[in-house]
Formats: sequence, C-alpha cells, structure tokens
Amino acid sequence: MLEVHHVTKRYGQFEAVSDISFSVAQGSIVAFLGPNGAGKTTTMRMITGYMPPTSGTISLHGRDIFDDPENCKRQIGYLPENPPLYPELTVWEYLEFVASIKQVPKQRRVSAIQEAIEKTNLQDRRHTLIAQLSKGLKQRVGIAGAVVNHPSLLILDEPTVGLDPLQVVEIRNLIKQLAKEEGRTVMLSTHILAEAEEICEQAIIIHNGRIMASESIEKLKIDRKEQFHITVEVKRESEKIPSLLSPIEGILDVQLIENGAIITTSHDCREEIARLVVENNLGLVGLSQRVENLESIFLKLVK
Ligand SMILES: Nc1ncnc2c1ncn2[C@@H]1O[C@H](COP(=O)(O)OP(=O)(O)OP(=O)(O)O)[C@@H](O)[C@H]1O
Ligand SMILES: [Mg+2]
Repeated sequence: MLEVHHVTKRYGQFEAVSDISFSVAQGSIVAFLGPNGAGKTTTMRMITGYMPPTSGTISLHGRDIFDDPENCKRQIGYLPENPPLYPELTVWEYLEFVASIKQVPKQRRVSAIQEAIEKTNLQDRRHTLIAQLSKGLKQRVGIAGAVVNHPSLLILDEPTVGLDPLQVVEIRNLIKQLAKEEGRTVMLSTHILAEAEEICEQAIIIHNGRIMASESIEKLKIDRKEQFHITVEVKRESEKIPSLLSPIEGILDVQLIENGAIITTSHDCREEIARLVVENNLGLVGLSQRVENLESIFLKLVK
C-alpha cells in the first residue's frame, strides 16, 4: 500500500535521507528502527505529506502523495515525535479541532470523536484540560487525534517514549488493537527493539539516512544469523554428546548442561544432531534452536 521510491531529503547541504526505497504491505505492522539522527522522523514527515522529498516519490495505494496531498492526508493518521497538543483545550475540544482540520464530515464528527475516545480509553477524561493530563494520557490523546479520521495508514513516531512501564504496555496493546481494525497498516519508530519484536512483523532499519534492511523480523533473524545455538536434551549419557557429534562439520562449541548440551554451530544441523543422538540411543527428549534477537542484528547493522 505504501511505496517509498528512491527518496532523498536534503536540509540545505546536509543529506538526511539518501536514496531510500522500501514498501509496506496493507495490514502489516512495521517497525522503523535506527539510531538517533538516522532519518526516521524525516522519512515519516515525508510519508505523511508534511514535507516533500528533495527527490524521489512516495505513493499510497498507487497514488503519488504529492499529486493529491489532501486525499492522501485523509487516509493517514500521524502521531508526531512531539504531538502539538493545545494545553488550554479539553480532550474533546482538541479532538473536535483535529477532526475539523482533517475534514471529517460535520455530521459524523461527534461519533468519530466518541469512537476515538473510547478506543484510547479516555472516556473519564473527555472534559479534562490537556494541560492537566499525565504524559501517558497526553500520548493517548495524540493517538486519538491520529485515528479520529479512520486512517488506513497510521504513522507513530516513538509512541512509547517517556512512558512508565505500565503505560508502555497499555500503549503497545492499544497499537496492536488499532492495527487489527479495518485492515490498517501501522508504521512505528522506536528505540526499544524488544518492542519492535513484540508488536511488529516487518522491520525497516535505517542508518545515516540509508536503508540497511527491510524485511520480516523472522526473515531478518534467519538471514543474519551467523551462529546457531542448539539445545539438545537427552535421558541418559549426555557426556557422550561431544564425541558423537564429531562427524558433523561446523560445530563451534559444545557445552554440557544437566541432561544435555548446548551446541554452537555455523549452520542449522538440527537434523544431523537428532539422528546421531537417536542412533546412539541417548533417549532424545528435546531439541531447540535459539534464534538471534533483533537487538544483536540491529547492533551489527549499525555499527
Ligand atoms: N529541519 C532540519 N534542518 C536541518 N537538519 C535537520 C532537520 N531535521 C532533521 N535534521 C537532521 O537530519 C538528520 C535526521 O534527523 P531525524 O530527525 O530524521 O532523525 P531520527 O532518526 O528521527 O532521530 P531520533 O531517533 O533522534 O528521533 C539528523 O542529522 C538531523 O540533525
Ligand atoms: Mg526522530
């Protein structure tokens, strides 16, 4: 649904984003990852139509967003890095204002605001001044504003930054729930890699304005894995494991544990290990492989 095609953004002489391309499928939840200053916010601002690229194109459902920015903006919900909330307005007044600038038709405005308030669980706070809300509640108001126009694409720039652990969990659940509705596509930037792993299916990693990876998190883990850690559990004679593995090539380390071993290898040799353990009658009870996590992959890519 979203195509970013050879996009470059320069601020004066400085190139913040360099010839980036990626696509996002409808209904997916994508993590946009990268160190500080990598170009995440810059890219998100261009996708939401708030700032044009210096070169390249961005299209939503096959339409260039700068050919028809009004129509595209109606399909996008955006939670900026620092949501511009008006402290002197109540939650309801603020959402009324957002709904009007997003051109939600007048006759549908009240129900749209009510719905956004319910989704973000702000029912008790609808008449509270924004100035009197905690950071987490303000973030909810920002998200309510982002979804008030029923966007098919939701762009969230660091939605959980600065929240306490309880609110982080709540906001993550809210994002997951919003992503399930209406086949919505969600793109969120975060510095918390465990968060990306928990919420998202796809990861786009950007570093110094260049895309380092753009694929499913599972595939990223499988492709970038350089070492495999295979845990094998047996009923008896686990001390025999190191010697019986000698026919397998690429064994880097064997560490004996209670009733088994952790085997580090350069390739996936689960089948060969299982066969040797069974042939030697050690009583195989378990065999599992630990997959490298997103954090270690991220660090390798941006170092
Ligand atoms: N308006 C601007 N004028 C000049 N340079 C800018 C401007 N906005 C951003 N930059 C620069 O562009 C680069 C990318 O910034 P951007 O805000 O997109 O990074 P980011 O990935 O969102 O970082 P963070 O994780 O800190 O939010 C940075 O070097 C930043 O200093
Ligand atoms: Mg940013």
